Amino acid sequence: MDHFVSPSLLAADFGNLEKDILMVNRSQADWLHLDIMDGVFVPNISFGFPVIECIKKIAEKPLDIHLMIIDPDRYLTRFRDAGAYMLTVQYEACTHLHRTVTEIRDLGMKAGVALNPHTPVSHLRNVLPYIDMVLIMTVNPGFGGQSFIMESFNKIAELRKLIDSGGYKVLIEVDGGIDTKNAAKLIESGVNVLVAGSSVFNSDDPEATIKTLKATKPYDAISVSI
Ligand code: DX5
Ligand code: ZN
Repeated sequence: MDHFVSPSLLAADFGNLEKDILMVNRSQADWLHLDIMDGVFVPNISFGFPVIECIKKIAEKPLDIHLMIIDPDRYLTRFRDAGAYMLTVQYEACTHLHRTVTEIRDLGMKAGVALNPHTPVSHLRNVLPYIDMVLIMTVNPGFGGQSFIMESFNKIAELRKLIDSGGYKVLIEVDGGIDTKNAAKLIESGVNVLVAGSSVFNSDDPEATIKTLKATKPYDAISVSI
């Protein structure tokens, strides 16, 4: 499959969100990534339901909502009602992960699980049949603009093997420090969804950067065509 691009609105201009959402609508982005932070699971607070509801009114791309909050079970129905397409919870924030992802699916959303950089992918082995996506955090969650953690490549390769050997229909998303330079290697490693915040919104032409990310080919294909 072709990979998806999901620009992270965290790096957008919060004083003029409508302008940036309309840019994403026009662009080749597949999804719109929204980061929800509670100030407890991560040392930062982002935005909540009133803002998501306003975003939903303007956004034409499916909402890819990444919850960095403790005990997300309290809010699953509200995120569904706010318009979530994909709802991703952090592995480290869920005591009963199987129950949480099952409920997300029962509510009609796609279920994702995010792993912090220190959490091994093997912890997801028994939940893979019940989810639609694994988000490998390639930075420590909480802030945009951080540097990509190189060890993530080993995690992606290990997860790719786990998914393919089990025949699961589970996407691999990466989030944190993704840009037009590391995208090709990530796709080659088996990534399906690229989240990009600063590299898109801080670029001179965000729409063109999304186009470049979307058009990126795995390294293999590049070397063959040279
Ligand atoms: C970080 C968030 C990311 C963030 C990525 O905790 O989950 O989605 O917006 O930002 P960049 O692409 O700037 O690293
Ligand atoms: Zn995110």
